[in-house]
Amino acid sequence: MAATSLFWPLLALSFVNKALCQSSVAQCPGYKATNVEEHSRGLTADLTLAGAPCNSYGTDIESLRLEVDYETDKRLHVKIYDADENVYQVPESVFPQPALDDKDGAAESTPDLKFSYEESPFSFAVSRASSGETLFNTSGNNLIFQSQYVNLRTSLPQNPNLYGLGEHSDPLRLNTTNYIRTIWNRDAYMIPAGTNLYGAHPVYLDHRGETGTHGVFLLNSNGMDVKIDQDDDGEQYLEYNVIGGIVDLYVFAGPSPKDVSAQYAQVAGLPAMVPYWGFGFHQCRYGYRDIYEVAAVVYNYSKANIPLETMWTDIDYMDHRKVFTLDQERFPLNTVRALVDYLHQRDQHYIVMVDPAVASSDNGAYNRGVEKDVFLRRQDGSLYEGAVWPGPTVFPDWFDPNTPEYWIDEFARFFDPETGVDIDALWIDMNEAANFCDWPCSDPVAFAEQNNLPPEPPAARQNPYDLPGFPSLFQQGISSNASNTGTDQRRAVVTVRQEAVSNDNANGKRLGLPGRDLIDPPYRIGNAAGSLSNKTINTDLIHANGLTEYDTHNLYGTMMSSLSRDAMLNRRPDKRPLVITRSTFAGAGAHVAHWLGDNVSTWAKYRVSISQMLAFASIFQMPMVGSDACGFTGNTTEQLCSRWAMLAAFNPFYRNHNEYGMIPQEFYRWESVAEAARKAIGIRYSLLDYLYTAFYRQTVTGEPFLMPMFFVYPKDARAASINTQFFYGDAILVSPVTEENKTEVEAYFPDDLFYDWYTGLPLRGKGEVVTIKDVGHADIPLHVRGGSIVPVRTGSEGWNTTAQLRKSGFQLVVAPGLDGKAEGSLYLDDGESLEQTATVDAKFTYENGQVSVGGTFTREADVRIEGVKVLGEEVVEQTIDLPLTESGSVRLDGCAA
Ligand code: NOJ
Repeated sequence: MAATSLFWPLLALSFVNKALCQSSVAQCPGYKATNVEEHSRGLTADLTLAGAPCNSYGTDIESLRLEVDYETDKRLHVKIYDADENVYQVPESVFPQPALDDKDGAAESTPDLKFSYEESPFSFAVSRASSGETLFNTSGNNLIFQSQYVNLRTSLPQNPNLYGLGEHSDPLRLNTTNYIRTIWNRDAYMIPAGTNLYGAHPVYLDHRGETGTHGVFLLNSNGMDVKIDQDDDGEQYLEYNVIGGIVDLYVFAGPSPKDVSAQYAQVAGLPAMVPYWGFGFHQCRYGYRDIYEVAAVVYNYSKANIPLETMWTDIDYMDHRKVFTLDQERFPLNTVRALVDYLHQRDQHYIVMVDPAVASSDNGAYNRGVEKDVFLRRQDGSLYEGAVWPGPTVFPDWFDPNTPEYWIDEFARFFDPETGVDIDALWIDMNEAANFCDWPCSDPVAFAEQNNLPPEPPAARQNPYDLPGFPSLFQQGISSNASNTGTDQRRAVVTVRQEAVSNDNANGKRLGLPGRDLIDPPYRIGNAAGSLSNKTINTDLIHANGLTEYDTHNLYGTMMSSLSRDAMLNRRPDKRPLVITRSTFAGAGAHVAHWLGDNVSTWAKYRVSISQMLAFASIFQMPMVGSDACGFTGNTTEQLCSRWAMLAAFNPFYRNHNEYGMIPQEFYRWESVAEAARKAIGIRYSLLDYLYTAFYRQTVTGEPFLMPMFFVYPKDARAASINTQFFYGDAILVSPVTEENKTEVEAYFPDDLFYDWYTGLPLRGKGEVVTIKDVGHADIPLHVRGGSIVPVRTGSEGWNTTAQLRKSGFQLVVAPGLDGKAEGSLYLDDGESLEQTATVDAKFTYENGQVSVGGTFTREADVRIEGVKVLGEEVVEQTIDLPLTESGSVRLDGCAA
């Protein structure tokens, strides 16, 4: 059994008590609205408890405030909170409210959404102004607002198309009956279906085809069960059952799915742009024995002629798994630095993992943290200890004003480019936060001993220098004296963060009600880890700013993420950071990227990786996302790994990673997989600028590029439930083989024109399933959507790295639409600077045999458009020469004017 399996038992779900006390909830009196004041952009009102309190899961709050704001034409904000403002609200330092200047003058124009209400018992509805269609309606279900429970139910049309409410590994289109989506961040080994996973994204899309799509976001970080079901009368509903916080609801009008996604990004934050090289292929695993094995993997990729952009190292590099340390025997500093130099000289990159938990033994990071007093404490003042990889550990309190300086300095010291491990990007893990030790974890030392934490590392090698391909690499002597490099940048970041945290609770408000049961609340959500505090930090801890872990648990990973991003920025102030995190909260995409955690090497998890990726990229606004290719735990198979090498090439984040103790699965281990990987990376790299362009657009407008089929064909009812085909940018439809031993795909093609990527031949979609045959193990069906122009890098010689790729010119692949026209775009910049001063933003059009390039060109592009390929019954290829520095056009030979 793998070492990790010990610590993520699949807990019996019987522990989960879903005792929703229906009768007492049904008797709750609801509220009465008074003092309703309408203003130009919405209304305010007082809500007063309309009868005897029912106190079903805590104490009913007597007096509430309602605020309704038409924030933009497309966005309505409904906020219901306690009049005294003692109830916890998600702090602005973590989730900034959309700035006022986001508001687009809704007062002067006509909002697309309409808010209406009943005074007593209070209920509200949101409808489309144009059609009157009801989108959200609480009528008939009294609002419950108690100290430890909020209940809000909306009725819905029958069998709705709902998506989102992550993080989960269920189908993309959510079940509509007897379905509970629990949201409570959890270390979810093997990502079981139907359970809460690593992240909290309480946003859903309600897609109604012909009448449009809208979205609903509940800004609330408390644990919750979202129930989707039908009541006894067969009426469909969606119901929030939240164990704290307030009703802070945003409704997005759409009307297209893409619009909803972009409107959500205006609230959650536009995703962060990533470096160009981040889209290269990454190799990782848990269990590389030493730096020599890591180097051997780099060498073997090169020998197998599979382009490797970035090499990773898991916790194996650490001294007994303590963060900010190196194992002196197996990962001595001089050899690690030598490997990093070697990679950098070849335009390759290096990434390592950092966990939040700091080993509570005599080591630098622990001692400095104690000195700065940044670790979470129990209510009796003692340091709170759990047990993670290094054994007993303490946990940084991200709300402590001293923590930014501490964390940034640890990064500056350990990852110092001159004296430390000069990483190019960062991997952060275990930040739900994971704790192996069951609640109450009163003796983490004994727990660690009983569970062999940390295990003794394997012995150092006898003959470490004998590595093919790296002659004398490891014999260079490099000083190991790391130094702390405090900078102005660090001071500025620290000040901004300290101010933000101290503004959160101005006047001591919104800290959370006193007297609550923070360990075992009366309403128990369906956390698959058992009670709230199980396998995580105790929820009764109080942060330095007075907030409870009970209220802020779901923010822990995202707070680590944004601070770690700042720590990376401090090291390289001008470069876009790439930080890959496991745990997320709504809005995390504005800072970091996400991998989908500990999946399993099975066909089921291969399939569900598509839905998971789509949810993050197209709904949660975290477009840099991907799953562990070939599967993390369990031994992969040659066939699965080959298929996954192809599929993952169409994940924005493309990484092969697996678990300690499992068979090795680097792509070169089997010839068939190597062949698939070479082909997959070749296609991916030829399309990398198409991906980069679309990704960049999302960071500016929020319009998603990686989409479920219904985003591109919203009126096609069959597209609404397609889980395993997707659009990679709006021009390329990916239809992977999804079953073992199959060489066919039953692919759905909407009523439109498509072209086979490989042959260029047209396929007229008719809203039917088409069987694509003879899909070899190193193949993945791809179709270009008619009406698109895709810029493709030409040639593939020497594409060992993305730096080399960027020297290739382009061919425009033109896929004429049903009207004979096509268009596309290309964005180029230097690929890594945070601020870009010179770019190419080119638009391509095709009509009547003429290809034209327009746009803005402030960058001296060193590559040109070298060819055009027009797809069709007869594929026409022609060499052309168009610079990417100015507008121009070319008439293709043999095409009628
Ligand atoms: C859990 C992570 O999800 C996994 O990717 C990693 O290999 C292990 N922790 C060990 O660090």
